Amino acid sequence: MKKRVYVKTFGCQMNENDTEKVLFLLKDEYIPTDNPEEADLIIINTCSVREKPQHKVYSEVGRYKSLKKKKPQLLIGVMGCVAQQEGENLLVRLPYIDFALGTQSFYRIKEVLEQLPKNPNPIVLTELNPNFKPPLVLPEESLIKDPERVTAFVTIMQGCDNFCSYCIVPYVRGRETSRPPEEIIEEIKRLVDLGVREITLLGQNVNSYGLKETGYPDFSELLNLISQIEGLWRIRFTTSHPKDLSDRLIKTMAENPKICHHLHLPLQAGSNRVLKKMNRKYTKEEYLEKVAKLKALIPDIALTTDIIVGFPGEREEDFEETLEMLKIVRYHEIFSFKYSDRPFTAAKNFTDKVPEEEKERRLEAVQKLQKTITEEIYQEYVGKEVDVLVEGFSSKSKDKLMGRTTTNVIVNFSAPRLNLKGRLVKVKIEEAGKHSLKGIYLQTLK
Ligand code: 5AD
Ligand code: SF4
Repeated sequence: MKKRVYVKTFGCQMNENDTEKVLFLLKDEYIPTDNPEEADLIIINTCSVREKPQHKVYSEVGRYKSLKKKKPQLLIGVMGCVAQQEGENLLVRLPYIDFALGTQSFYRIKEVLEQLPKNPNPIVLTELNPNFKPPLVLPEESLIKDPERVTAFVTIMQGCDNFCSYCIVPYVRGRETSRPPEEIIEEIKRLVDLGVREITLLGQNVNSYGLKETGYPDFSELLNLISQIEGLWRIRFTTSHPKDLSDRLIKTMAENPKICHHLHLPLQAGSNRVLKKMNRKYTKEEYLEKVAKLKALIPDIALTTDIIVGFPGEREEDFEETLEMLKIVRYHEIFSFKYSDRPFTAAKNFTDKVPEEEKERRLEAVQKLQKTITEEIYQEYVGKEVDVLVEGFSSKSKDKLMGRTTTNVIVNFSAPRLNLKGRLVKVKIEEAGKHSLKGIYLQTLK
């Protein structure tokens, strides 16, 4: 009989994707369970990008300590960015864990589980190899949580060479490395065979896909190659660094009908002085120039962004420039964070830290402004007809369906029949909510 594995995932979409890969790797011996109480193996996939998610990890792992007392053969492991960051140090606070696997080492999970009974001590693997290539791990239908899923993530590159001064990612995800295009295509074809219609390509900086390799397509070429896969209807990608957003990519987005009209383009801050201290390598004028080009070629493009408030040395007038940028760009949505010190980073040692209350005030101000902008933008959809890829039932009621527009806005709608999952339908928007739109079904397109 197969054993059971429970995985708790924190953090970004890449972590979710890594969790799935672990399940695929363990498929011969373990089946996934949603209940940690019945698990033989518990894995916590961790995030350390900001202080808050990192704190959650320790309380989460602590929660399973008592389970191990009841069931001594239970194995507990930590993977992801905190495992990478802390390595052996994890064992000081969490001496009862059996293994810790870093962001490149988790692919060795099977080997580690085989070694464990022979090892008196926990196994900790946190090597980061600059020439690392993640092995191909193909999706396993029986292990996918929702076997009739319509959307899926595919990691195309990982790691980061940019070293923004606040960011831990280059230290915990290692150097940028791109996966071979053939493997990416093979993985996507497999997902499409399983019914997936929309994929989101993942990477810390997808725009620099392939640039360090010889003979690889660049990101625009990769998008065009992927778009030739029959049965795949929509392509999304995240994250894009503004400095690497080329005219060519903007043109590809405008011309290739499978590429969705949404771009996540982290601004981080609106003041050139702060951007320089952040080592972002663009000015607000350069950023705005790219936004203007995007809007000129793709008039309905939806932009979203990440904002950090209270970066060391950020003055009131700098912060106001961030607010000004939100008013000019008019993002569909923003993800905003209070700056927090991260280990290894340059900004950790900057002396002019902004007090916590001030960071809190700026966070509230930026969120308040964005709320109004989002509401106004959503209101503009009312009365329009939009194409929606149906992902399933609406989360609030089972007599409505849910899907997204090409601009990545959630639409809940009523329809005469409800078996439309996986179909592309036309919906008329009748009402705008705070986080989603409401509409009625008009017709099925595909
Ligand atoms: N403090 C606050 N926010 C941060 N981010 C990254 N590092 C930090 C930090 N030290 C935010 C950035 C990034 C997002 C994933 O997390 O906005 O784009
Ligand atoms: Fe972090 Fe900057 Fe790399 Fe993004 S581009 S992962 S913010 S270092």
